[in-house]
Amino acid sequence: MKIKLLVAAALMAVGLAAHADPIVIKYSHVVADVTPKGQAALKFKELAEKKLPGKVTVQVFPNSQLFGDGKEMEALVLGDVQIIAPSLAKFGKYTKKLQIFDLPFLFNDIDAVARFQASAEGQALLSSMDKKGIKGLGYLHNGMKQLSANKPLGTPSDAKGLKFRIQPSDVLEAQFKAVGSNPQKIAFAEVYQALQTGVVDGQENTWSNIYSKKFHEVQTYITESNHGVVDYMVISNAKWWDGLPADVRKGLNEAMQESIAHGNKVAMDEDSAFRAKVVADKKAKVLLISKDQLGQWRTAMQPVWKKFEDDIGKDLIAAAQKSNR
Ligand code: LMR
Repeated sequence: MKIKLLVAAALMAVGLAAHADPIVIKYSHVVADVTPKGQAALKFKELAEKKLPGKVTVQVFPNSQLFGDGKEMEALVLGDVQIIAPSLAKFGKYTKKLQIFDLPFLFNDIDAVARFQASAEGQALLSSMDKKGIKGLGYLHNGMKQLSANKPLGTPSDAKGLKFRIQPSDVLEAQFKAVGSNPQKIAFAEVYQALQTGVVDGQENTWSNIYSKKFHEVQTYITESNHGVVDYMVISNAKWWDGLPADVRKGLNEAMQESIAHGNKVAMDEDSAFRAKVVADKKAKVLLISKDQLGQWRTAMQPVWKKFEDDIGKDLIAAAQKSNR
C-alpha cells in the first residue's frame, strides 16, 4: 500500500514537472527597440526561448512601458522585474565605483571602453553590487555621447548658464557645473518634452538615443563631442538568478552573453548610421569642433576627476586610462 502511494506521488510529481508553467522573465528597459539595448533584449528573448523551450517565457518591455529609469532598479530588487540594463550612470545609489564610466573624456572611444570592461578591473565591477542583491550579468554598449542644445556649442563658455538634462549621476552634475551650466536630473522618458517645452536647453546622449527619441527635432545644434559614454550593465535580481534550476540558469546565461554580443555589434556597426540619419533629417545642425576647442572642454571638465577620485579609486581610474592605448 505504502509503495503504491509512493509510486502514485512520484508519478504525479513527474506529471506536474512535465506540465509546469514556464518561468516568466520580464526584461524591462527605457529605450527604443531599434537601439543596441532594444536589439539585445529582443535577441535575448529569441535565444532564451529557443534554448529552453517550454521552460521560460521572456517578455520584453521597451520605452519605459513597464518601469521608467526612476523605478526599475527598485523594482528589480523587489522582484517585480527580472532583468534590466540601466545606463552605468544610474547606479549611484548602489555603488560609487561605476561612476568611473561618467568621468568626462576618460575614454578616447568605445573600443577603449570595451577594453576596460574586459579587463580584470572592469570584470570585478560586475559583482560590486552582489551584497545589495544585484547580479551583474555583463556590460552592453551603446556609444559615445554628443552634446545637443538650442544654441551652437563650440567652446565651454557657450554652455554657460544653459540648463542641461542629465541622467541621475553626481559626476554628470559636476561635469556640467564645471562649465557653468545648470544640470537637471530628469528621467529618460521625459527628456523629449523637457527639451520641447524649454524646461531644459540641452542634453547629452548617443546618436541612437537622439535619433530614436527624436531629440534632434527639438534641438537646433548637436556638437559632436564624444566626451563620454553611455553603456549599460545588464543585471538581475541575485536571489532570483541564483535560485533558478541549474539548467535554466546555464541556458539563460548563454542566451544573455550571445544577446550582449549581438547588441554590441549593433552599437559598433550602427552608431554612424544613426548619426547619418540625424544629419539627413536636417532638423538639427551637426557641428564638428576642432581639436583645440575639444581641448578646452577637456580642460574645463578635468577637475571633476579629482572630485570623485576618492569615491572611485585612483587605481581604477589609472586602469581605465590604460585602455586608451
Ligand atoms: C539616458 O537616460 O539618457 C540613457 O541612459 C537612456 C538609456 O538607457 O540609454
